[in-house]
Amino acid sequence: MSGPDFVVVANRLPVDLVRSADGSQRWTQSPGGLVSALEPYLRARKGAWIGWPGIPDVEVEPFSDEGLLLHPVPLSANEIGEYYEGFANATLWPLYHDVVQRPVFDRSWWETYVQVNQRFADESAKVAGQGATVWVQDYQLQLVPSMLREMRPDLRIGFFLHIPFPPVELFMQMPWRADIVRGLLGADLVGFHRPGGAQNFLWLARQLLNLDPTKAAVGVRSRPGWVQVEDRVVRVGAFPISIDSTGLDTLSRKPQVARRATEVRESLGNPKVVLLGVDRLDYTKGIDLRLQALHELLQEGLVPPEDVAFLQLATPSRERVEHYQQMRADIERIVSRINGEFGRVGRPVVHYLHQSVNRSELAAFFRAADVMVVTPLRDGMNLVCKEYVACRHDQRGALVLSEFAGAAAELTSALLVNPHDLDGVKSALHRAITLDEAESRRRMRALRRQVLTHDVDRWARSFLDALGASQGVS
Ligand code: ADP
Ligand code: F6P
Repeated sequence: MSGPDFVVVANRLPVDLVRSADGSQRWTQSPGGLVSALEPYLRARKGAWIGWPGIPDVEVEPFSDEGLLLHPVPLSANEIGEYYEGFANATLWPLYHDVVQRPVFDRSWWETYVQVNQRFADESAKVAGQGATVWVQDYQLQLVPSMLREMRPDLRIGFFLHIPFPPVELFMQMPWRADIVRGLLGADLVGFHRPGGAQNFLWLARQLLNLDPTKAAVGVRSRPGWVQVEDRVVRVGAFPISIDSTGLDTLSRKPQVARRATEVRESLGNPKVVLLGVDRLDYTKGIDLRLQALHELLQEGLVPPEDVAFLQLATPSRERVEHYQQMRADIERIVSRINGEFGRVGRPVVHYLHQSVNRSELAAFFRAADVMVVTPLRDGMNLVCKEYVACRHDQRGALVLSEFAGAAAELTSALLVNPHDLDGVKSALHRAITLDEAESRRRMRALRRQVLTHDVDRWARSFLDALGASQGVS
């Protein structure tokens, strides 16, 4: 069977089709960490990428984009509502992020999730060459590994989860918990960001599949690092994802980026301290609570408003899902309160952009910022904090980082904070604003050592090497 020997399967293609009001169409980079991380890696490797083109009801023929073969999978408006906005983002997303919002368990969303996963599996079975490696990505496609194995036992199948895998007690709420575990066990290697996620999954595989009375004949046993499903061994491990650190370091050194960073500071009124937040507008990211902390610091007079400017970029995300609409309203309310109380004409304290910017503009923002604020309530990894560090070749700048981001395990020289503790966030912000240069350099040097030596290439190689070694373990 001819076809590519390396295939990535993800909910989205690395590019999104955007329709303008005049009916014209263009491709833009898709949002989110998965694409930021995988796209540069896959372009260099010239594989194929299977995914949804980003808008409903379009049939796009496969096409090649600078050596990368893109295979669009169409989704109808109803499927987007039930599979993507529903099961993926109103059931799995909150459940896997510590139930910071209540997950909705809807039977018809589940059925659509199964159907759409089957469509991605069918497309993968059609595209992949004989014996190819197929790398399935993220929570939207957890059933694809077993569906694909059923059709194409010749393939080597990897699965990586880009979001946290929840504690066992929370996962057990899921009505279709055994189906999901069984879906993932179709892979030869299942990867998580953190060892805790791998441990939880191993425990669930053993408990759930042995306990399921309809599957009593399926024997599953697990040991650290692997689980045996009938005659197959599935390896399970932790592979913390990263970024194209060298690419960003190089970009941030460009004279035009330096010039733009100076311009940005000028446009912000050249305050003593520029603070920056860069996120998808998501309720897990803690954008509201960092603004709340700033508000209280201003109210208490601990931070003079004329000394600071807070630039918050928030990429529009999942805008039809109710919790996201609510969070947007909350954030915009607090931005306008802060500016109403502490801004002056032509000089707001918070500069809020509900939009995406390109890589070079983003690098300029990172260079312009004295303090990077990353306060998710829960985040699988969080790439933004690593991107900030990669852009600080001047070894300046302070990083305030939530303990609940996967990155906190690696970036231990950041100012780590518990985002549930508002006083703690306030003191971390205050400390970052007043940090002396020697300490900020010392911390940034250590952060850069970690980020520059642990890049996305190393992550992908370690996962794919483990996948390559996965057969024959018993
Ligand atoms: P998630 O995958 O949950 O969105 P990550 O922090 O892992 O979170 O990745 C987010 C990615 O999206 C990063 O590469 C970041 O630079 C990019 N990004 C986030 N907000 C913006 C924005 N407003 N403009 C451009 N890129 C953004
Ligand atoms: O990593 C989490 C993730 O959901 C990715 O799967 C996705 O690419 C990114 O965030 C952006 O989310 P969405 O595709 O829903 O816009």
